[in-house]
Order: sequence, then structure tokens, then C-alpha cells
Amino acid sequence: DAETADYKARIAEALQRHNAVLVAHYYTDPVLQALAEETGGCVSDSLEMARFGKEHPATTLVVAGVRFMGETAKILSPEKRILMPTLEATCSLDLGCPIDEFSAFCDQHPERTVVVYANTSAAVKARADWVVTSSCALDIVNHLMDRGEKILWAPDQHLGDYIQRQTGADMLLWQGSCIVHEEFKAKALLDLKKVWPEAAILVHPESPASVVELADVVGSTSQLINATRTLPNPVFIVATDRGIFYKMQQAAPDRRLIEAPTAGDGATCRSCANCPWMAMNTLPRVLQSLEQGSDEILVDPQLIPRAVLPLQRMLDFTR
Ligand code: 13P
Ligand code: SF4
Repeated sequence: DAETADYKARIAEALQRHNAVLVAHYYTDPVLQALAEETGGCVSDSLEMARFGKEHPATTLVVAGVRFMGETAKILSPEKRILMPTLEATCSLDLGCPIDEFSAFCDQHPERTVVVYANTSAAVKARADWVVTSSCALDIVNHLMDRGEKILWAPDQHLGDYIQRQTGADMLLWQGSCIVHEEFKAKALLDLKKVWPEAAILVHPESPASVVELADVVGSTSQLINATRTLPNPVFIVATDRGIFYKMQQAAPDRRLIEAPTAGDGATCRSCANCPWMAMNTLPRVLQSLEQGSDEILVDPQLIPRAVLPLQRMLDFTR
């Protein structure tokens, strides 16, 4: 509509004026994903958001996603100004892994290599040996296993459990979870598959094991989008945030995409396949942040030299 077009034009102009680029996650509102594409920014998973932000010459990054993504950008590029549409956009995995408790857990297991998911605070990353995202976690854990290392894993228990089962690695798991993915329901998914027997089931590994078991493909957001390009199925049932449908439909325009069922009747779930924090990213907030310089991500400068090490290790490993 006209209001949306007006916001988009004003943001595009403000991005240029501030030497800024927009980096958006696949779970954000499609209107922001489109804007990032149209203005020379990037729409991607959390790993490629980190890489793109570090390598792009803009002096300001506007990170549309959740807080850990903005912090990662700041840790990798402390000289850049990192703005977010709102600093309130957090993540249940980050919230569920406070640094004091996590540090105590690490202290109890000094013999283990500490591997943390990117969905964590800067302080937790500063305590880690490796940061991983869901697109590289399996490869990195396999690599550590080949070196005979035992792992302390945090915070997502479902992703940790999936990797443990896939690799056979010795992993001690923190018990965090994602409020979006933990609501997908295996029984209802099985029923839906009966309605669409020709469908392939695509699952993000933050989902519970009972849902992962039913998957034809388990993978990060970018891996699930790729699956819609390569698999022949006319229908895909997708267990992840529905924001991903924007890119999936671009990748596979002639296929039918169906949301995997959450919490039985769809009325009682807390998130219903839509992350409430990702949904805080809106056009007015992007414009406000750019024009007023509000919602700037700052990371304790003392943490940065330590937190950058496991992040850079991940970027080097996946290059
Ligand atoms: P990806 O790393 O697959 O983009 O996932 C990030 C995330 O927050 C998943 O819920
Ligand atoms: Fe965190 Fe889940 Fe939201 Fe991703 S979808 S940002 S893991 S709460």
C-alpha cells in the first residue's frame, strides 16, 4: 500500500545518507526482507548475516533480527555502528542462558570444549571455545570429535540432542529451548502428512526430537530453503518460523508450502510459528532507528577481544 511504499522509500534514502546497509533474517516480516534485497543489503541465516555484516564496507549496519545478531555484528566489527529496529527483540535461548549460571556450569567441567550456539549473549560467547549456528554445528562438532574432544553444549537442548545423535559425540547439554520450535507437534504433523502424502517435511533442528524424526530434511533456515530447490516434491510441510515462506516461495514458486502444526489446535500456542521478537522488527522502527540513531547495539569493550575468537573460528571454519 501507499504507506508501506512511503516508508520503504524513506528508509532507502536514509540508508544512503547514513552510509548504512540493512541486514535481515529470514524470520523477519517479508516487507523488510524485500527492502533489504532492494537496497543492496542481505537476507540470510544467522551465519551469513554475521559474515555479510563484517565484510560489507558500510559504516552503519541495521540488523533486523534479534539482539544476539546485532551483538555478533558489533563483536565482529567494533568500529561500525550497529543499529537495530528495537533492542527489545531478544530470544528465549539467549534469555535462558544467563552468564553467571553458564559460567558456573563451565567451571564444573573444565575438561570439556565449550561450544555455544550463536543465539547467546556476548558474555556467553566470551566464555566459549567455539560459536556455531545451525548451518555449521554438525560439521564443527564432527571436527571436534575427530580431535577426541568432549563437548559442553549450550543453550538449545533440541539442537544439541540432534547433533549428539547424528555424530555420537560426547556432549553435555544445557537445557534451553526456542519457544517457537518447541511448539511443533509430532502427532498433528503425522496427521497432516496423511492429508498430503506427497509432501516432504522440512524441520529446523531446534524442534523436539519427535518432530525431527518425521523430517525428510533437517537443517538451518538456508538449508531448508535450498531443499525446496532440490527436492522434487510438489508440497512442503515446514516446521520453522513462517517468515521463511517469503524466500522459500521465491526459491520454489510452483510448490505449495504448508506450516507445520503447533500446539494442537493452533489457538493455544505461545508463538504459533512466528517468533514474537522477530516480529518486533517493523518499517517504522527501522526508520526511527536510522533517523534518530536510537537502539544502537553496544557491547562491553572488555568482552569483545575474547568473544571475537570463537566467532572468528566459526567464520574461518565455514569459509
Ligand atoms: P538460523 O541460524 O538457521 O538462521 O536460525 C537462527 C534462529 O534464530 C533460529 O530460530
Ligand atoms: Fe530465538 Fe526461537 Fe526466535 Fe530464533 S525463533 S530468535 S531461536 S526465540
